[in-house]
Amino acid sequence: MCGIVGYVGPRPSTDILISGLARLEYRGYDSAGIAVIAGDGVLSSRKRAGKLQVLRDDLAAHPLADGTTGIGHTRWATHGGPTDANAHPHLADDDKLAVIHNGIIENFAALKADLLADGYAFRSETDTEVAAVLLGREYAASGDLVAAFRSVVARLEGAFTLLAMHQDHPGLVVGARRNSPLVIGLGEGENFLGSDVAAFVEHTRSALAIGQDEIVAIRPDAVEVTDFAGSAVEVEPFEVVWDASAAEKGGWPSFMAKEVSEEPEAVANTVRGRVRDGIVAVPELEGLDEVLGEVSRVIIIACGTAAYAGMTGAYAFEQWTRVPVTVELAHEFRYRDPVIGPDTLVISISQSGETMDTLMAVKYARERGAKTLSICNTQGATIPRESDAIVYTHAGPEVAVASTKAFVAQITALYLAALHIARVRGSLTDAEITAHVAELEAVPAGIARVLETEQAHIEQFASWMADTRSVLFLGRHVGYPIALEGALKLKEISYIHAEGFAAGELKHGPIALIEPGQPVFVIVPSPRASAELHRKVVSNIQEIRARGARVIAVAEEGDVAVLPFADEVLRIPLAGPFFEPLLAVVPLHIFAMGLATAKGLDVDQPRNLAKSVTVE
Ligand code: M6R
Repeated sequence: MCGIVGYVGPRPSTDILISGLARLEYRGYDSAGIAVIAGDGVLSSRKRAGKLQVLRDDLAAHPLADGTTGIGHTRWATHGGPTDANAHPHLADDDKLAVIHNGIIENFAALKADLLADGYAFRSETDTEVAAVLLGREYAASGDLVAAFRSVVARLEGAFTLLAMHQDHPGLVVGARRNSPLVIGLGEGENFLGSDVAAFVEHTRSALAIGQDEIVAIRPDAVEVTDFAGSAVEVEPFEVVWDASAAEKGGWPSFMAKEVSEEPEAVANTVRGRVRDGIVAVPELEGLDEVLGEVSRVIIIACGTAAYAGMTGAYAFEQWTRVPVTVELAHEFRYRDPVIGPDTLVISISQSGETMDTLMAVKYARERGAKTLSICNTQGATIPRESDAIVYTHAGPEVAVASTKAFVAQITALYLAALHIARVRGSLTDAEITAHVAELEAVPAGIARVLETEQAHIEQFASWMADTRSVLFLGRHVGYPIALEGALKLKEISYIHAEGFAAGELKHGPIALIEPGQPVFVIVPSPRASAELHRKVVSNIQEIRARGARVIAVAEEGDVAVLPFADEVLRIPLAGPFFEPLLAVVPLHIFAMGLATAKGLDVDQPRNLAKSVTVE
């Protein structure tokens, strides 16, 4: 949940660290800090509670003596509140050693008790400072930073990425990872470390992903990776496909606004290269075709918005492949002793590829013999590395904490995987696959049309609703997870009570919430696909309208049945039943963003959240 960056090379490191942190701020933003080893060989550090801008302002007013070796951190608090003292880096060995950390050191209390008994003192409430003080003690004994670091990380339990540097060793930053991300950026005479490639993509697109329980030492002209026992490890370089500008706001008022505008490309880019002559062939799945032909069940696991993408995609997945599909929240799946084995395909969905709940569930499934497929947006992330196969969503970097373009890309990737499997299993004919592909390929233009025709209208009525205290969302079939997604987005960035319901469930309780003026979004299915489903949703609208609800219908163009009962109608272009949700979600993303903006809130960095949830 924290962002980590490290640099060694010929250039002054402060600006490199701060711009890396700016790109990682989505990972946590309650405090930030840097440490550099200055030209005179002295380590200095600055850290401040609050967003990165507070640190920036402080450094502008009182610059640090700059140097060419440095580490930086942006924090999402776990142990100890967001204060200057708890911010990273944590210093030890008479402030000659600096350590930053992402994750949770589970045995920190025992280690701390041991250090206290030895007479060491602490300045923060964090688990990280324990690792720093321990490293200081080990280093003092040997004078070998890499060996001391290796001995410390081997004693830590839990999940961590740790970086450390010592003023006795300018030009060296050491790092380690266990169940938490760390990637290396390879430059010319300089090298970088980052929680993800966004930290250094403006400097280099050549990267190495460090494996589980590995240690790296970077110097300006060398990178050495070993396991925790010190044996050398071979690491394959990869080329980062994002360019630096993809992670910039580029004139948009927020990353979220930019990312919503990129929803059409997120779908189009995810399809690209995976359709040949109208037939889906996902190259990344080809090695698994034999297994895919034989699996007898599919379990989709994910959290938050990614789980709603899974729920949405599951309807078509099951229908097209004729394999039973269930969808579970990763943290629930992991702890309920599920019956799984070699006949089970577990599909994880994660934008970041680092969500700890999802990662643990994938490992659990794999240990029990299931085949694992990762749908992920981030190259080099941990979940894909722990999976048997990967289908990357090509949504580009998603920076706003609220997930938008990744959601539509995740559904797209699930559809591609389903159509691939349907072809392998023969559960759809080529003609049927081609027809679905045509519908999928029409989605980007459909989303673009929603943005073009509805955005201004939605933003306007969202601004009128700035004082609203509660909003409900209703949907049936694939509209149900869209209702859940609409509600999550609103809660997340507008801090308004919002709930999504299956429309059929209304009469079983939630209808009691309806009182005069209660805003309710209703996702209306196309009457062309199922007249019955459409009729039922229109009846639900009448039921809530009769009780005074203010109805905002999301309905396809030309659906006049909703007009007498809806206060607002948001139009989406015609699409096949499984493709409608990719269009219907867009007005809900715009609405949440519009309302949060009208309330004067930071839509990119909502309170208490981080984009990448790397703790369980
Ligand atoms: O990176 P992931 O897709 O695994 O993240 C899962 C959830 O934490 C994420 O979707 C979260 O719910 C979003 N902030 C919602 O907008």
